Amino acid sequence: MPKQYVVFGRPVPRLGTRHTSVLLVIISLFAVFSLLFTLPSAIPTGPSLAIADHRFSIPSSLKNPWYSSLNPFKQPSHAPPRQRNDTYDETSWYSNFKWLSIPFSSSVTFDENRLLLPMLVERPPIYCYYDNTVKREPAIKDAESDLLLSWRRAWWAQGFKPIILSQAEAMNNPRYEELQRHQDMNPTLKTDIMRWLAWENMGGGLLAHHLLLPMGSPTDPLLSYLRRGEFPKLTRWKDLDDGLFVGSSKADIATIIKLAMASPNTTTTTNLLAALELLPPKPEKETPIPFTIDPDNPKALAYYSAKTIESTYPKVGTDILASPAAGLPSLNQLITSHLHLTWQNLFTSGIAVLKPLPHHTTHMISPAYELAKRLSHCPESPLPTSCPPNNRKCTPCSAADPLKITTPAHYINTSTLYTIGTVPHPYTSTSLHSLLEHPDVAWVRRRSPRDAWVTDLTTSICPSGIAGAPRVLRFKEAVASDYGASRSLWLLAERALPDDLDWYFGFAVPTEASWDATTTATPDNNTPKGNTDSDATTAEKPGAEQRPLPPAHDPKDGPVPTPEELKLEPNLLARARIVVGDAKTKNRASKEEIAVRDAIEAWNLADTEAWRFARAFLARKTVERKKWEEEEAKYAGGIGSEKGRRSGWDRWLDKRESA
Ligand SMILES: *[C@@H]1O[C@H](CO)[C@@H](O)[C@H](O)[C@H]1NC(C)=O
Ligand SMILES: *[C@@H]1O[C@H](CO)[C@@H](O)[C@H](O)[C@H]1NC(C)=O
Ligand SMILES: *[C@@H]1O[C@H](CO)[C@@H](O)[C@H](O)[C@H]1NC(C)=O
Repeated sequence: MPKQYVVFGRPVPRLGTRHTSVLLVIISLFAVFSLLFTLPSAIPTGPSLAIADHRFSIPSSLKNPWYSSLNPFKQPSHAPPRQRNDTYDETSWYSNFKWLSIPFSSSVTFDENRLLLPMLVERPPIYCYYDNTVKREPAIKDAESDLLLSWRRAWWAQGFKPIILSQAEAMNNPRYEELQRHQDMNPTLKTDIMRWLAWENMGGGLLAHHLLLPMGSPTDPLLSYLRRGEFPKLTRWKDLDDGLFVGSSKADIATIIKLAMASPNTTTTTNLLAALELLPPKPEKETPIPFTIDPDNPKALAYYSAKTIESTYPKVGTDILASPAAGLPSLNQLITSHLHLTWQNLFTSGIAVLKPLPHHTTHMISPAYELAKRLSHCPESPLPTSCPPNNRKCTPCSAADPLKITTPAHYINTSTLYTIGTVPHPYTSTSLHSLLEHPDVAWVRRRSPRDAWVTDLTTSICPSGIAGAPRVLRFKEAVASDYGASRSLWLLAERALPDDLDWYFGFAVPTEASWDATTTATPDNNTPKGNTDSDATTAEKPGAEQRPLPPAHDPKDGPVPTPEELKLEPNLLARARIVVGDAKTKNRASKEEIAVRDAIEAWNLADTEAWRFARAFLARKTVERKKWEEEEAKYAGGIGSEKGRRSGWDRWLDKRESA
């Protein structure tokens, strides 16, 4: 007799073969359905589970209202909560640690314009003290203000929140009264103690001199340590003198201030460290001076102390002594050139201006190419062959041998190569690729390959045949991971260059004019060289500035355009900018164009996600900086106010901001 199965104490009816096949059909239907509906969010990052036919992999049902009603496995859920300052222009974002495991943000945010971005790392404040009550000549004030701007920009680019403290913060400290009682104290020492009072008032952290700048790789261990912002011991560096102090304990800072004020010789000593040294030797058991002195030479910090300037850059030193109003701008220029040089020395392999789908994207990448040119040229400097004080063995910039610029079609992951990408909306890439000003839906469905841009871009970092979803994750990693973000900048093809690039790089990127001046080979008057390049450039929108066209790409990467084809590009780009454009220009696109754009977005989910991701990543950077400028403006003598403008204090903030 066949065996009788029992479940929960009840006999289970035996299944005939017919029953079994019905069951099998149900199970396989279930499998197919769950595969279909869970796919978009479940595709692994690794290439091991690649889906060969990528037409299959991204159901456009993601955008389809049916999706949510049809999908029986989807949990009903709410959009994630909004975060502070998470919107800019038309884009918004949701910072979440899952950003690198979910290819399509809308599967989490239920909003196609709300993108998953990596967590925003908290920037530790770094303080410097600047006494704005001291009377100075306006020219000197301006020069010092520019130095402060350089200081803020450099630290901001390295992931800090630079904050300038003034007398106001020092006067908030209860110990200020006590300091005022020291009538005969040397005024220079008094200012130095004020700096510490202001620092104690802020609760400790990082206190830097405004001529101490970060110059090194963002991954330098000391910079990473400083970015963590936790300093159990009050520390200074032997080689930096009073350039940098770190310490999280207010009590330690208070002790130092008390000791310095008790020093026997405050009428003659001019700084706090010297005052501490004059203290009589401590009797046993009493607390020692709570300083840890780090003997290491910090490789990524450059201190332009008076001593260093005098010994290493005597020309600038003599200038400052002769006339501070003329010498300080020259010091600022020297510092800026060293920051730029440090950047150039990090990227010895040069700059890659990416050009996926290279056939018709020459004009599209030309702003990125122009930026690369500006970055590759030698910065102006009062001492052109000098090296930063912390890296005497640098490779000085040579006008004869500038940084190499290439235009590869694929992203190359090399640590010494800086990448500038230009991300097109799929409408833009489709229009350029087809050379059609009005691509239609039928053309798109029949002739255009899906996600062509991101596929071409990731050819060298993804195995061939892999779907768009895992590719877009690799793209996001290249854009926004710590490693990727420190080696690349991703621009939008439809937008102008961001106007705060200086804050991304940490130094004033040379303007076009100054690199024209330094490259003697380029005539200034834009004489047509008798080729199509200049024709094509002038064909761009009237009033558009002249910019150099990148040289032709490697024919291995794709066909090279004919001069006639090149001439078509500017108009196609201009039209695509309107169709893709922001709120202000959108109403100029026709209904049909918008419909085609939406169809193209649905057809190219990965390319669309890539573009939106790049847009949100740039927007968040802008908002982060603007928010900080807003906060700082309150303390900088009133940004934009007449008073601030007259006193010149708003120059700490970026000049464009106050313009
Ligand atoms: C104060 O400094 C002067 C000169 O540096 C020195 O001659 C004097 O002895 C010092 N006085 C004390 C009390 O240390
Ligand atoms: C690039 O290379 C680094 C180090 O080798 C690696 O950690 C990173 O994941 C790579 N990035 C991409 C986008 O492939
Ligand atoms: C950030 O949010 C605050 C309110 O939470 C708002 O006042 C401020 O304008 C926002 N800043 C930016 C740059 O959007």
